[in-house]
Amino acid sequence: MKTSELTYVFPKDFWWGSASSATQMEGYSKADGKGPNIWDYWYETEPNRFFNGIGPNHTSQFYSRYEEDIKLLKETGHNSFRFSISWSRMFPEGRGKVNEKAVHFYNQVINRLLDNEIEPFVNLYHFDMPLALQNEGGWESRSVVEAYVEYAGTCFALFGDRVQKWFTHNEPIVPVECGYLYGHHYPAIVDFKKAVQVAFHSMLTSAKAIEKYRSLSLPGKIGIILNVTPSYPRSEHPADLDAAEKADLLFNRSFLDPSVKGEFPQKLVEMLEEEGFLPSYELGDLDIIRENTVDLLGINYYQPRRVKAKEHLPNRNAPFMPEFYFDTYDMPGKKVNPYRGWEIYEKGIFDILKNLQENYGNIECFISENGMGVENEERFINSEGIIQDEYRISFYKDHLKWVHQAIQEGANVKGYHVWTFVDNWSWLNAYKNRYGLVSVDLDQNYKRTIKQSGYWYKELATNNGF
Ligand code: BG6
Repeated sequence: MKTSELTYVFPKDFWWGSASSATQMEGYSKADGKGPNIWDYWYETEPNRFFNGIGPNHTSQFYSRYEEDIKLLKETGHNSFRFSISWSRMFPEGRGKVNEKAVHFYNQVINRLLDNEIEPFVNLYHFDMPLALQNEGGWESRSVVEAYVEYAGTCFALFGDRVQKWFTHNEPIVPVECGYLYGHHYPAIVDFKKAVQVAFHSMLTSAKAIEKYRSLSLPGKIGIILNVTPSYPRSEHPADLDAAEKADLLFNRSFLDPSVKGEFPQKLVEMLEEEGFLPSYELGDLDIIRENTVDLLGINYYQPRRVKAKEHLPNRNAPFMPEFYFDTYDMPGKKVNPYRGWEIYEKGIFDILKNLQENYGNIECFISENGMGVENEERFINSEGIIQDEYRISFYKDHLKWVHQAIQEGANVKGYHVWTFVDNWSWLNAYKNRYGLVSVDLDQNYKRTIKQSGYWYKELATNNGF
């Protein structure tokens, strides 16, 4: 298609791709010397927590099928692809001796991607703490900070000659909120003070890994991936505005500011101090955070947060939660993905990008995840066996229009990655909601079939627009 026939044309060399994570797609969680991580452990001890009892051993088997998957990446138009390294595959005990079979596997993946002109974007941590380190306290513990830096440095040294886009964490708020506040991820603790410590350590490890990376003078960039949930107040009333600001400070700026500006917002520090929740830290930690900000920012966007002032005083006898500062509400008439229950608000992606442009030095960024999870997609299979997922194509187009608009207005956006490539296993929801451009048939040995959205994505990337 000629550029002149397209309505939305993206900048030259735009990164078209998708994101994935090790636990969600590798499978083989006990093979070739991999150590257990918190997901393997939780599944063994509490399998009923997982939808249909499917655990991390049965994810989409990328470990054995990566060659086939890389061909499919090519067929669906990818010029870049994010995967994460499994810390417990590299270091079965979390630290110490590196597992050579893991090194071989990741070398193969990186080399095959490069052979196919697909740039590897590598993330070091996607919710998968090695069990041995969780037993030391996981992200709560200072010893784990040092183990992470050792792991990161090993990955840079082994793969950094070829990988030129590195990410220290994916969505560091998720282990904080799911693991230490709302009980969705192991260790399912409810403890605000610990949650703050975990958040602080994720920022410290990110900065320390960046420092390590830069000391090696490798030829790439390093960043972090944050899920930003724009916080929209119910009204312009000062109390609603204040509630929305507090939600923004807790869920977004607690990671955005240290990652990009090298400091925590003063107002956040005051809020935490007032409640006695400041984390413990060592002399020099704040200097490390200040001096090691990111080159590049990945933004995962799914949904906004609708916020209003608290209507009732919080119950001081209950465990302290973020919702002590604000209430959320259901905005009348909002559009919702009925399967996942998440609001769909496409303009949110524009608001995030404009905020980065205006308040974060227009840092180089890309959309690192955006996607729509849908149940029972086999309903939409046509006579040729292809899932007709028109809804997903519309979802992507509706978001891309706003990404395009932000670029037109000067935002420094380099790419767009969808979540995700092949239907994958999702934490507690297992295979309930499917997100892929390619389907996986669990009854036919994980057989892959490109969906209509996968063909569309190829066209999008080839035309560099739509
Ligand atoms: C992102 C995560 O938050 O959302 C992914 O990085 C996750 O790991 C994706 O799978 C979709 O969420 P869910 O819970 O529907 O899988």
